[in-house]
Amino acid sequence: MRITYNHEYPRRVRLAAIGCGGHALRNIFPTYQFAPVDLAAVCDLDRERAEACARLFGAGAVYADYREMLERERPEAVVIVTNYDENGRPRYPGIAIDALRAGAHAWIEKPPAASVAEVEAMIAASDETARFVGVGFKKMFFPANVKAKEIITRPEFGAVSTITARYPQSLPPEADRSDSRRMCGFLDHIVHPYSVLRYLGGPIESLQVERSRINGASFTHIRFVSGAVGSLHLAHGQSGMSPLERTEIIGDSANVVVDNNVRVTYYRRGGAEGGYGRAGTFFGSDDAAPLHWEPEFSLGQLYNKGLFLLGYAPEIRYFCECVLENRAPEVGSLADARELLRVFEAYQQRPDGERVVIAR
Ligand SMILES: NC(=O)c1ccc[n+]([C@@H]2O[C@H](COP(=O)([O-])OP(=O)(O)OC[C@H]3O[C@@H](n4cnc5c(N)ncnc54)[C@H](O)[C@@H]3O)[C@@H](O)[C@H]2O)c1
Repeated sequence: MRITYNHEYPRRVRLAAIGCGGHALRNIFPTYQFAPVDLAAVCDLDRERAEACARLFGAGAVYADYREMLERERPEAVVIVTNYDENGRPRYPGIAIDALRAGAHAWIEKPPAASVAEVEAMIAASDETARFVGVGFKKMFFPANVKAKEIITRPEFGAVSTITARYPQSLPPEADRSDSRRMCGFLDHIVHPYSVLRYLGGPIESLQVERSRINGASFTHIRFVSGAVGSLHLAHGQSGMSPLERTEIIGDSANVVVDNNVRVTYYRRGGAEGGYGRAGTFFGSDDAAPLHWEPEFSLGQLYNKGLFLLGYAPEIRYFCECVLENRAPEVGSLADARELLRVFEAYQQRPDGERVVIAR
């Protein structure tokens, strides 16, 4: 894949940014180097932050009120990277709907909303205005996950039968789950392993949660619409020195492991030769040898940057390309967001141990 730099694009999206906090500064504004973005204006309730970002990233105008910015600048698209309100609810639905009604496409960071109803309100506004919303499911854009998906959809891999994903996160006790502030941390993080499972396994049919009373760690047993089953291991209690994640997908005599989001191993169909009790060496034929990839960290290549490894540049590039081609995003869509919130509401509203239907 050859990356085009901002200044090389023949046409760029006239874009306005809402929210100039820590994540936008570290991980979103810098992606515009690699995307067709013409940064018309930036906005933050904290005007000094907005001014600092405007200086650093070359925005044409600065605002502290996004409605005024939408009215005056009439952007083609907005990128919204705001935080939670006083009740621990993401601010995205209200701001995104205002942007759609002002004629802009919108990209929103995660978590997109705190309820299915809020996502459905964005879907209705999107339908009504013929403008679309892209959602920051960054893990759907990690090169390691994209590679894993490409392998597991090859005919040679066979149908995916099981998927396991590990991610460190605790689930509050049932008595606390109706309090949006106490569920804020869970909502903030469930987005990430959910989006890996959704991206690799497809739509989710149902799930069942088992929570450890010791520390709130949990297993969620998942059935996918495809017929595959999966488990999400929310491994609260693992060491802070450990890589956070590991994902494994099993096909027909083949499997793929994604370790720490940068190491991909494809164990192809095959085995030691000679039969059980007779095989004198564990090396099978070279045709069946595992394939392993990991980045070298020597060269000043784009693929070595966190902006690429963690999906930020790919997700923003994809959204901008959708805007230029006037087509709604298929990866990181509002439909994905609605399913995520159905999953979240299953954790929030249904007792542990009950199997909850997600697919409608
Ligand atoms: N995908 C990831 O890897 C990742 C990582 C970190 C954070 N995030 C997400 O990014 C978002 C921002 O996180 P953060 O750590 O930068 O938070 P932050 O509090 O540092 O920044 C949020 C900014 O939004 C501004 N803001 C809030 N409401 C606004 C409004 N109505 N108009 C204009 N500006 C407004 C705030 O003033 C603040 O500067 C959160 O949704 C968080 O979950 C994603």
